[in-house]
Amino acid sequence: MAKRVAEIFRNTIAELAVVKQWQPRVARLEATFNKESHMRTRFTVNGEPREVEHDTRATLLDILRDQLGLTGTKKGCDHGQCGACTVLVNGKRVNSCLCLAAMHEGDEMTTIEGLGSPEALSALQQAFVSRDGYQCGFCTPGQIVSATAMLEELRAGDPSFASASLNGDMPLEDAEIAERMSGNLCRCSAYPLIREAIAMAAEVKS
Ligand code: FES
Ligand code: FES
Repeated sequence: MAKRVAEIFRNTIAELAVVKQWQPRVARLEATFNKESHMRTRFTVNGEPREVEHDTRATLLDILRDQLGLTGTKKGCDHGQCGACTVLVNGKRVNSCLCLAAMHEGDEMTTIEGLGSPEALSALQQAFVSRDGYQCGFCTPGQIVSATAMLEELRAGDPSFASASLNGDMPLEDAEIAERMSGNLCRCSAYPLIREAIAMAAEVKS
């Protein structure tokens, strides 16, 4: 079993090394993996510097939840398919269940806990409450973190598959929101209210 895990890990490293911008991180990961099974990684979470000691194979999701106690980030599928584990890494949304913690030395993370507090909700958090954009709430942290980055992508002019033009106006219509949020699943199917909440927050912020 351990041999098989090591083989999968090495194959993953080899695939990542093809991308030039990942090469320094891959080199660090490979060196550590060959020497020992534990390592230290330093990064910033919600504005606080953190240092964690972890198994080289630990995912960012498990470190956030189990070591740092940030349980707002949810584990749904653990396979990159539901978006419940979405966090921001250097301002971009990622599925933290697909990220090895070892590859985030020096990065800045934001989790749902870092976007607002019960006393000072972010515009999106407030809109989800106002529009009732949830039922059980399990997917909600991932939806809100993902939508936070999505609105930034929209402001930066990044088109989606649903955008009418690649560089023209991209009005935040229902289909545009649905496409841009398609990586975040909701098992309660609260999609119409989730989209309403996002549209409401976008108006508040614009
Ligand atoms: S738990 Fe990460 S995408 Fe589902
Ligand atoms: S509100 Fe229950 S999974 Fe989305």
